[in-house]
Amino acid sequence: MISMVSESELLANELLGMDDLRALQLSRLKSSIAAIYKSNSAYRRKCEEAGAIPEDLKSLEDLAKFPFTTKSDLRANYPFGFFSKPKEELARIHASSGTTGQPTVVGYTRDDIVTWSGVVARSIHAAGGRPGMKVHVAYGYGLFTGGLGAHYGAEALGCTVIPMSGGQTEKQIQLIHDFEPEVIMVTPSYMLTLIDAMNKKGIDPRSTSLKIGIFGAEPWTDAMRQEIESALDIRAVDIYGLSEVIGPGVAQEYSVSPGSPTIWEDHFYPEIVDPETGMPLPDGEEGELVFTSLTKQAMPIIRYRTRDLTRLLPGDVGPMRRMARITGRSDDMLIIRGVNVFPSQIEEQILRIEGLAPHYEIEVSRPDRMDLVKLSIEGRHNMDVSDKSKLAASLASAIKTNIGISTEVDIADPGSLTRFEGKAARVTDTRPKN
Ligand code: DLL
Repeated sequence: MISMVSESELLANELLGMDDLRALQLSRLKSSIAAIYKSNSAYRRKCEEAGAIPEDLKSLEDLAKFPFTTKSDLRANYPFGFFSKPKEELARIHASSGTTGQPTVVGYTRDDIVTWSGVVARSIHAAGGRPGMKVHVAYGYGLFTGGLGAHYGAEALGCTVIPMSGGQTEKQIQLIHDFEPEVIMVTPSYMLTLIDAMNKKGIDPRSTSLKIGIFGAEPWTDAMRQEIESALDIRAVDIYGLSEVIGPGVAQEYSVSPGSPTIWEDHFYPEIVDPETGMPLPDGEEGELVFTSLTKQAMPIIRYRTRDLTRLLPGDVGPMRRMARITGRSDDMLIIRGVNVFPSQIEEQILRIEGLAPHYEIEVSRPDRMDLVKLSIEGRHNMDVSDKSKLAASLASAIKTNIGISTEVDIADPGSLTRFEGKAARVTDTRPKN
């Protein structure tokens, strides 16, 4: 059992002034860079090649003199080459599955687990969760950071955790009914699966005890938020994170100020860089999000390239900056006959059309040398079969007008497409890679 989070940690964004925050960041950054330089020979070599030494860091802006860390650096040093502490000091190891090849391995000391639980507790609190509430965790437990990250954070806040993990949809529904949790933490796509399964069983999803949903681990649109909020009669907020930086709890949307997650900047220093050139971009401009950990011990990480595309916005609840909702990852971007398209843009168009459900698949192929996009979207349960071609035509035309690509649309029967228990995989791209 993890100890309870302190008030100064829980409310850091509300309690710290801007000058205190910047001073704290600089002193933590100096320690992190000095520690990694001393203990991680792979990163030290990169610094030597770039001609950077820890003493070069005199201001936060000087961080730009240091080299980036990428997923390939972690892969090249698989499994433990990027750790800064001896193995005996590790309390836990997680790994991200990775769609290709080797997993990315991350490690935590006991202090890191406390830090991580603290930022997740802060996230649940910002979402409106309070000590004493029951939190149903349906993120997967195991090597994925979602389940255990949410679990320890909820405990540190003083909540009662229901460690359900992903899968076993029937049981999830039964336990939500019987245990009456106020909060659910799950991927938005698995939430949709759960809503669907409730409807199928004749349970009104609006009748559950749930009041707050903390959704993340994958991109989701505002249209999807409205869909989930009205289906469940809850407040749905966004939680962001990645295993290389710590796991869930790097940024969180406040329920009192919905729109853009606040980055817990006292632990994770953000930058936005041009994805092509790597040059830092000013706040407000869209580019690739880069993080430097400020307090991690087992695996401090400097300038990690997330591949997530967003922009930094000024703080509203406190001095910590916010990030615009992630539009997508640079590696999820589809280039269709020269047009850049994120799956989230297609999702937005689908959910604007009343008769269409939030279950869809995107298939991209290249027969006859031309990109072809086929979309399958489920109609809603009350859909009239004779409406199918009208719905398909309206969607194709909305996508053509708003995104600029032609698509072949097929309206599928309700319940006929794949459902997800963790992160959704809605895109298949069979075009030859070159
Ligand atoms: O997905 C950690 C997590 C667990 C976050 C539970 C939130 C809730 P990874 O498996 O390493 O870690 O995947 C990280 O997922 O770089 C983003 O591309 C994506 N991602 C995570 N949260 C969001 C979000 C976890 N709220 C990768 N919106 C990240 C959009 C997200 N994308």
